[in-house]
Amino acid sequence: MNPARASIAATLFALSAAIAPAQSAPTLLVDIDHRAAASLDGDWHYIVDPYASGLYSFHREIKPNGYFQDLDTNSAGNGPVEYNFNKSPTLKVPGDWNTQTPRLYYYEGPLWYERKFEAAPKPGTRTFFHIGAANYRAKLWVNGQHICDHEGGFTPFDCEVTAVLKPGQNSAVINVDNTRIEDGVPTLNTDWWNYGGLTRDLSLVTVPETFIDDFDLHLSRKDHKTIEGYAHLEGAAAGATVHLAIPELSINLDAKTDATGRAAISAVPQGLKAWAPETPKLYKVVLSSGADTLTDEMGFRTIEVAGNEILLNGKPIFLHGICIHAEAPYRTGRAYSEEDVTTLLGWTKELGANFVRLAHYPHDERMTRAADRMGILVWSEIPTYWALHFEDPAVLAKAQQQLHEEQRRDRDKASVILWSVANETPNTPTRTVFLTTLANSAREYDPTRLVTAALLVRGEGHAKIVDDPLGSALDVIGTNEYIGWYEKTPEDAPNTTWKIAYDKPLIMSEFGGAARAGLHGGDHDRWTEEYQANIFRNQLIMLNKIPQLRGMTPWLLMDFRSPSRVLPGIQDDFNRKGLIAPDGTKKAAFYILQKAYKEDTVGKAN
Ligand code: GCU
Repeated sequence: MNPARASIAATLFALSAAIAPAQSAPTLLVDIDHRAAASLDGDWHYIVDPYASGLYSFHREIKPNGYFQDLDTNSAGNGPVEYNFNKSPTLKVPGDWNTQTPRLYYYEGPLWYERKFEAAPKPGTRTFFHIGAANYRAKLWVNGQHICDHEGGFTPFDCEVTAVLKPGQNSAVINVDNTRIEDGVPTLNTDWWNYGGLTRDLSLVTVPETFIDDFDLHLSRKDHKTIEGYAHLEGAAAGATVHLAIPELSINLDAKTDATGRAAISAVPQGLKAWAPETPKLYKVVLSSGADTLTDEMGFRTIEVAGNEILLNGKPIFLHGICIHAEAPYRTGRAYSEEDVTTLLGWTKELGANFVRLAHYPHDERMTRAADRMGILVWSEIPTYWALHFEDPAVLAKAQQQLHEEQRRDRDKASVILWSVANETPNTPTRTVFLTTLANSAREYDPTRLVTAALLVRGEGHAKIVDDPLGSALDVIGTNEYIGWYEKTPEDAPNTTWKIAYDKPLIMSEFGGAARAGLHGGDHDRWTEEYQANIFRNQLIMLNKIPQLRGMTPWLLMDFRSPSRVLPGIQDDFNRKGLIAPDGTKKAAFYILQKAYKEDTVGKAN
């Protein structure tokens, strides 16, 4: 290493041993997609930094300003500057980087984003930098100031930039690192491509100094008549007024904040049409206080369990569902756009489904907004997937943070009925304690929805036994099985009996098999459409023999990219268990399930 650089490192090290701490912890403003915002989507310069040279010196000491010094701040002139954002290529935001350029297809590591943006800060306001999602860890700088850090690839966060914003041109630099980590959520191994980057919308949101940063409005389970909840005013003292208007329901009321800035709300609407798949009625809701106004489109419905029934608006419901990964149809890559969402949920409707399991992480908010409009019920999940470090309290804290962000973002969505706290986790006491804590956190934060998880089941001969102790912490039991694919033959399914230790609603949260669209053969020729169809035919017979089955979400709607699916000519980096290929080709099994859903022949065990 040349002596000049050695001296830089020494100087830098002497300057400060630690990265300038982030100015603030991220927060999360609710209903942000209804707030006036300056979009920061578009082309961002990027620098790939596999060795994190932008963060660390050659002796791995953290650089004081925590990233490549901005050209104009490197006034010291100590040696060569070996990067230049302005001359660097660009990536589209939102979007994963892996499918935007072949040079990043397999890339996992730190990558720097940079762009300039205009701002006109006004007195009496606060401005937040909104990031819809950044996979997996992100560090934000604005005008050279380290603003915030965030971990978790599928939930939004907001960082306050009021103090650093200046009139005219500003600069934003974001380090995004999708390196998989042992103590991450998810951890090292997943059956989906680790798409990195700024994968959802970015924007600048300006609000009055006192503003509504959170609210909850829902239909009471007690009387199915009262709309109740609260609004929280950030920056308000006790006694401030919050006004709620729902014009179509003749609701117009004032509520007063308590010492914590929270105003309790309760109102009995006239002529409420409860939200349901057949009638996905959304109402314009307007919350205002002082200079701040927040609008939303919301449905009102109740969801609860009674014994082993799931009740929507007090009536039993059967969930004709399908699992979906956030893989973009046609172009592939991380799905985020209105077009992606409309295609995926359009196919869901075509299938005759009224329910989707969004696997295995919170999807773009456009997905749950569209589900609200289209009348599709939603199972939403955080990536507590397979074998996390359940013994590590820091991992629990990460999972709780992601759960909290997911719930805070989607609590206003009538379509979302289930919070899932896990998928296929090992049945150990440490794990069960971890996930029970998570299930209780979910219920505590949102007692108006149901908590579930996708459990592995054990087999004894022709029996499947559902007695995982985690079941007692759940409202609804999800179980995954792959009879006919990972075990046994398709024809073994109808001879399988299910022994379920809980008198709770059961959802078959995964089943299926893979087929390459267009590959044909006999019912027992793996990878052919006929084999997949054969699995589905037999599964439907078995499912109709399970008395407490209240829903199903076969695995899955569309093939998706996964690093462990490498069979040439068949998988080619894709898990092929979709009923539809990424180019939109529907496989034979799609029509078998569609027929069962349209003719409503499943879930008829009792
Ligand atoms: C598992 C898992 C999925 C995975 C699927 C498969 O059940 O939950 O994430 O993709 O099986 O093997 O295809």
